[in-house]
Amino acid sequence: MSQQLQNDLLLRTLRGEQTERTPVWMMRQAGRYLPEYRVLREKYGFFERCQTPELACEITIQPVDIVGVDAAILFSDILVVPQAMGLEVQLIEQKGPVLPDPVKTAADLNRVRVPDVQETLQYVFDAIKLIKQELNGRVPLIGFAGAPWTLLCYMVQGKGSKTFDEAKAFCYTQPELAHRLLQMITDTTIAYLKAQVAAGADTIQIFDSWGGLLSPHDFEAISLQYIRQIVAALKDEVPTIIFAKGAWFALEEMAATGAAGLGIDWCIKPQLARQMAGSNVTLQGNFDPAKLLSPIPVIQKEVREMLQAFGPQRHVANLGHGILPNIPVDHARAFVDAVKEFRFAAQ
Ligand code: CP3
Repeated sequence: MSQQLQNDLLLRTLRGEQTERTPVWMMRQAGRYLPEYRVLREKYGFFERCQTPELACEITIQPVDIVGVDAAILFSDILVVPQAMGLEVQLIEQKGPVLPDPVKTAADLNRVRVPDVQETLQYVFDAIKLIKQELNGRVPLIGFAGAPWTLLCYMVQGKGSKTFDEAKAFCYTQPELAHRLLQMITDTTIAYLKAQVAAGADTIQIFDSWGGLLSPHDFEAISLQYIRQIVAALKDEVPTIIFAKGAWFALEEMAATGAAGLGIDWCIKPQLARQMAGSNVTLQGNFDPAKLLSPIPVIQKEVREMLQAFGPQRHVANLGHGILPNIPVDHARAFVDAVKEFRFAAQ
């Protein structure tokens, strides 16, 4: 599939090949900072947008057309997996995700199942097929899922949180239940991501947004051992990227999973990340998303400094977390253009 792509910079960089320039995309690039997205948001509910392939397709392609990124990322959400596993998920304006009946006890866990993904998530695979057709080889398509630990956070806490203390308490006080749930999420996610690849996703990113809330020891036990299973299951199919926000301490162990790429946030120097991750993996990041509020000349200068710090090989330019809803579109475009225009002196 990748040989038909006109722009395969991302895939080549993930494979460790030399490229003419650094590829760029932005986490949460399909979203509220785009006026074209906000128009559709007025008309349709969030999960309606996810579940209607034509809408998901249009939203996925918007940033490719409007800001010129080198990859599209499927418009969906990590929380469609808990939904498919039997939990109700609502998205409340100004508040974020809410799961009214979270998992707290063994009885609650009986309501959760490993579903047939073809039955429950077919709309995602239909969206991917449509997006691939509409992209017509312009750029690769990134599929994704939440990491088991990050999904457990929402499934147990029932809403967003700065600490996810109830999710942690569940793991620490009822470890047997927690590991049963984590394995169920892992099994569902493997089937889900394999089906995304079968439908046409060119690469997969695993979002562990809350990995950095765990100590290094707990990150291994509660998060990484499950991510490792997912990466292993996909290894022969497509390159995978692990983004575990705040979990810089585990870069060496994450590199050893066989993932092609590791996302990093802005709290670690590129040089240190490279030292920890070794030379066999592509690093992705790590511009502070709030920095996109700076004047455009500052964005341009700091992008050049970031690119220099990572160097010409095995780097995918990205933000260190999702783009914020209040970023002006011309600032997002300035970020993307600054990457595309940059050339290394000795290249
Ligand atoms: O552009 C893309 O990156 C693709 C689509 C995408 C969304 N969510 C769409 C979305 C992706 C990859 C996600 C991942 C996601 N969802 C994560 C991991 C990445 C991260 O940012 O840490 C998490 C933790 C979620 C859960 C989630 N979904 C939250 C906490 C929220 C509310 C906060 C927010 O950003 O509004 C959502 C809703 C959501 N998912 C929106 C979008 C565009 C906003 C919905 C809207 O108001 O229109």
